[in-house]
Amino acid sequence: MKQRFIRARGLHFPSPVFSEFDYFDDAILHIDNGYVKRFDAAQLFFNDGLHEDACEHHPEMLLLPGLIDAHVHFPQVEIIASFGDQLLDWLQHYTFPAEAKFADEPYARAAAVEFVDLLLGHGTTTAFTYATSHRHSADVLFEAAYAKSMRLVTGKVMMDRNAPSDLVDSLATGKADSEYLIKKWHGRGRLGYAVTPRFAGTSTEQQLHSAADLAAAYPDIWVQTHLSENLAELDWLRSLHSDFLDYFSLYERAGLATPRSVFGHCIHLSDNELVRLAETGGIAAFCPSSNLFLGSGLFPLPAVRDKGIPIAIGTDVGAGTSLSMISTLGDAYRVCQLQRFSLDPLEAFYMATMGNARALHLDDRIGNFCAGKEADFVLLNPSRNPQVARRVNTCQQIRDELFCYMILGDERLIEQTSVSGDIQFQQEPV
Ligand code: GUN
Ligand code: ZN
Repeated sequence: MKQRFIRARGLHFPSPVFSEFDYFDDAILHIDNGYVKRFDAAQLFFNDGLHEDACEHHPEMLLLPGLIDAHVHFPQVEIIASFGDQLLDWLQHYTFPAEAKFADEPYARAAAVEFVDLLLGHGTTTAFTYATSHRHSADVLFEAAYAKSMRLVTGKVMMDRNAPSDLVDSLATGKADSEYLIKKWHGRGRLGYAVTPRFAGTSTEQQLHSAADLAAAYPDIWVQTHLSENLAELDWLRSLHSDFLDYFSLYERAGLATPRSVFGHCIHLSDNELVRLAETGGIAAFCPSSNLFLGSGLFPLPAVRDKGIPIAIGTDVGAGTSLSMISTLGDAYRVCQLQRFSLDPLEAFYMATMGNARALHLDDRIGNFCAGKEADFVLLNPSRNPQVARRVNTCQQIRDELFCYMILGDERLIEQTSVSGDIQFQQEPV
């Protein structure tokens, strides 16, 4: 039985209320064979007979549960920072050409291996990821995540219209390829499947229905798609559908409004759409760096939260500008500031850990250090960034320290990422 005792300053959120956090200046995380055995004040372990020498001791670092990215596109790493367009033109000019390269399986495999390493280097231990429309793009990503014991949910993108001919699937292949991947990968190790119709602009109504049929046939898979991101997108959808009511109806009518559906963006929803999203239990994925970069709009976090809609948070790379969930939280703060709402740093770090786990129905496995959880964690080292270290030295409270990390920090603060108790990323010693 492999045991690890990680001693550092430690924080987690044991309950769904972010203000009910546990923080210890001197904490120990005891990992037993990949699972959390106990997270507590170090002194209590020593009282129970643990010897200090058994611990990996990082007194200046902050131990946190592994970060969770609720919405990211693995083929889009190479188009982060593509100039000049908003959503629909950005898809045509940058995204589709980049995704077309994934027709080449060796290319896709190399990108998948690189992507998983990038996630781990950014402190992300769980990700909900879009592949491309090629079946093998999901296969190679599952393989790469499996090799690192990483928790990852992905799906081949379904799109049977309004995309280049080398990227579109068909009603038949979209469904058959998705089903093949569900049977092969869903529930294997820490992997899960999300049926992934890209958005209502690139799937026919029939394809949306067939995605919903899959979700109904395999009730513990997820659904992921995009919803109400950009105003020109809304106008375009209105012109595509003669009976257009609103954006959410396109998914609702097809049967895709389920409690396991992760809707990326949800920026321009009407009050009525928000009510229906709440009633059907769907999840809103807030992607702040993407929304700022593409100029899509401001996610109305307080209104969405007040309706009782579960909120997840993601990078949405490559419209998002970083794979770092830490800097994504800083962008979330800025987006909220523009709406006269100051996002509490404790709420922000809750969202990237326990909040995402809960919203995505994974809180029985990940999200905090409660006994029995899978031992995914990161160590943040403020001294990796001298400016952060200097600023953090002035902080009296963990809340202020977290705020410095999200505003000033990024993945360069990640000293170590462990997955199921094993180190999968470690920075070079200074
Ligand atoms: N809407 C449809 N496809 C995409 C995508 O790849 N990225 C973003 N941000 N929005 C989309
Ligand atoms: Zn997206």
